[in-house]
Formats: sequence, C-alpha cells, structure tokens
Amino acid sequence: MDSILNICPATAKAVNDVAEVAGYLWQKGWAERNGGNITVNLSDSAADAARTLQPIAPPTPIGRTLPHIKGGIFFCKGTNKRMRDLARYPMDNGSVIRVSDDGTNYSIIADKPVKPTSEIISHLSIHNYLVGKGSNYRAVVHTHPIDLVAMSHNPAFLEKDLLGTLLWSMIPETRAFCPRGLGIAPYALPGSAELADATIAQLDEYDVVMWEKHGVCSVSENVGEAFDMIDTLSKSAQIYLTAKSMGFEPEGISPEKMEEMKRVFNL
Ligand code: 13P
Ligand code: ZN
Repeated sequence: MDSILNICPATAKAVNDVAEVAGYLWQKGWAERNGGNITVNLSDSAADAARTLQPIAPPTPIGRTLPHIKGGIFFCKGTNKRMRDLARYPMDNGSVIRVSDDGTNYSIIADKPVKPTSEIISHLSIHNYLVGKGSNYRAVVHTHPIDLVAMSHNPAFLEKDLLGTLLWSMIPETRAFCPRGLGIAPYALPGSAELADATIAQLDEYDVVMWEKHGVCSVSENVGEAFDMIDTLSKSAQIYLTAKSMGFEPEGISPEKMEEMKRVFNL
C-alpha cells in the first residue's frame, strides 16, 4: 500500500510536526523509554482519499461512545513506542485510525497496524470534548517533565491554582503564553477512563493539566503550541527550583505586576 503521507498533504504535515515535537520531548529528557503520547485530530483536514481507506486491523472498542468524533481520523503515537523513534520513523511508531460511525470503536487505516497509545481513552475523550464545545484545538500532547512532576509530589502544590499562579510569577512569558494556567487532575491509573474524565473536568478552565505524580497533558491548535505551553511551564519550574537550590525562596512577580501584564497584554 502507498503511504497515507503520499495521498494526504494534511496528514503528511501533521505527522512531520509530531515527529519534530517527539524529538524535542526526547531531548528535554521528558520521554524515558516509551513515556508520553501525542495525537492529532485530522478529521477536518484529511483528504477524501485518506478518509476512505479500509481498516488494516480489526476494530478496537473505545470503552465509551464519543458522539462528536464519529467517523473521525486521528494520528496516534503507538503504545510502547519511543518518542526518539517516533521522531525519526513516525509511521513505524504511530498510525492513523478512524473512529466508527457510531463512535464506539476505532480501526487502524494506515500505514501499518501499530496499536495506538494506552492513553487512547484520554486522548479520544479529550478530542470528543474539544470538538463538542466547538474548539479549534486539534492536538493533545502528554509527557513526563521532571520538574513539573516533582512539584506534583508536594500536596501543598495541588490546591487549585496554587502551582499555576506560582509558575506564572517566575517569569512574565509564562503568564503570557500559558494564560489559562495549570489544572490539576488527581492521581489516577494510567490509561484509565477515570484519568480521562479527571482531565476533561479541568479543560473548561485550563489548556494544560497536571496528571498528579505522572506527567502533564496539553491541548492546543497544533502540537507545536501544545509543546510550547509545557516548555514554558517547565522553564518556570526550573527557575523556582534553581532559586530554591541557591538557598532562598524566589520572591515572584507580585500579583499587582501580574494584573498589569494581564491588562496590558489583554490576556
Ligand atoms: P504509551 O506507550 O502506551 O503511549 O504509554 C506511555 C505513557 O506515558 C502512559 O501514560
Ligand atoms: Zn504517561
């Protein structure tokens, strides 16, 4: 079979972007072994020739019905696949799936029968939620940033908006480029429907959600933007940790100065 990348320019572009970000996640040290996963919703951009490809593996139940992504097309990192390999050989370490017309299962349609990420219920439930609310967000990135995950081990940081506000106050960029802050999803079993629901519960208010003692999950228009928000939050976390390791509590930008930024930059 010809690669879907040759018949669908939108998929080729998205897969290229995924490969670029997968490389960054590995270089950042956030992607030990198969850690993290990425999916992109190609439903509105895929060429008709890609949409009508026949399944190359039997259908897999999603475990719930997702009405807003019926017939939807997604690129997914494969389960147990490494980000550093996804960066170099995306179609050997990920696949394109189509959700069934009743929204209850999905089938792999290209290029190879690479089983999607074990976090597929979170990813597809998030895409379903985003489409349902009319969002233009099409990318979901989950990764394991060392600094942010370390901070989630302090129960004091898990109080609503406490960590997000602290990270905003470390450098103006974080307030500007991660304007919705950081939501917190309490620890739940990886790959569980509970984790999916805890994440969605945060997405009304936040674009980036901490998965307590596990990682973060970010949603945006494209994978580059989703990566940038995590990168910005991680930068703030590193500034905080560096100050602490020099033996002092960082002062932080004052609430008044942050309010001024919000006003001037229209955040
Ligand atoms: P997958 O290899 O199944 O994508 O799992 C990695 C991960 O980070 C689970 O949370
Ligand atoms: Zn994970």
